[in-house]
Amino acid sequence: MFKSKDLLGLRDLSGEDIMEILTTAKEMKTKIDYAHLRDDTLKKASIVTLFYENSTRTKTSFMLAGAYLGGIVQDLGVSTSSVNKGESLIDTGLNIDKMGVKFMIIRHSMTGAAAVLARNVKACVINAGDGTNEHPTQALLDMYTILDYMGGFKGLKVVILGDISHSRVARSNAFGLVKLGAKVTLAGPSTLISGNMRALGVEVTSDIKGAIADADVVMGLRVQFERQKNMPFPNTREYAALYGINSELLKYAKPDALVMHPGPVNRGVEFSTDVIDGKNSVINIQVKNGVAVRMAILKLLYEANVDL
Ligand code: CP
Repeated sequence: MFKSKDLLGLRDLSGEDIMEILTTAKEMKTKIDYAHLRDDTLKKASIVTLFYENSTRTKTSFMLAGAYLGGIVQDLGVSTSSVNKGESLIDTGLNIDKMGVKFMIIRHSMTGAAAVLARNVKACVINAGDGTNEHPTQALLDMYTILDYMGGFKGLKVVILGDISHSRVARSNAFGLVKLGAKVTLAGPSTLISGNMRALGVEVTSDIKGAIADADVVMGLRVQFERQKNMPFPNTREYAALYGINSELLKYAKPDALVMHPGPVNRGVEFSTDVIDGKNSVINIQVKNGVAVRMAILKLLYEANVDL
């Protein structure tokens, strides 16, 4: 039974917790498709989103998830808030807490920001991405999508490719997938990957063709230009030629391999357009599943903290 106050990362969750979220998400999926099945689990709950970094998928799907469960959902609108007058993260959180909210959903460029907020507020805090640390709800929707197509995780070869060193998505997926028995390979240019990642129980390589060979899942990651201090490769054309996945390279994976990407995609950089829009791609399905997974997270956290 899921018991935490907050959801900060997959490092802290057990395999059973993860499976409970994924099973609950399956129930939630029908509520998205059939509006008359939506319930009022969160009718007494208010949710505030605090996005200090940009977002399309995560913020919108959390706002829809909260509304589909009957909650009151409000976005802080960080760029027009008193954050711009210098108010600290903790003071911002304490003020919102006083308004009686049940959930704060935060994205921040600082690693550990969600944990700092969680330690200081009564509300349940959900990490929507903190620096280069974790993006747990993205990894959970990725895992939901894999489970839906593949029926399980044990022994699956999952290759995560690209800008590994800046990727909170790679870290959360590594924590979750390894716990459930998948074989995870992280692959990318040596300037964007560190051998230290082996401590997560994954393989690390710069041999892209070898990494993709017989893969069940090929997950690309966006090159995070906004987090680079120095360009880690000469230009995007060269990156695409050496490390991008096109349909020829994809032939090394299993024929029914899933092509995944958390978005937003740099078309023609990490994946060619024919791969993004090709028959193996489940990138749009991931986005759809994100709403169900976030509904499941809100429901389970609410039920675990209803008396808080
Ligand atoms: N995958 C993801 O986090 O997308 P957004 O930045 O649009 O939320």
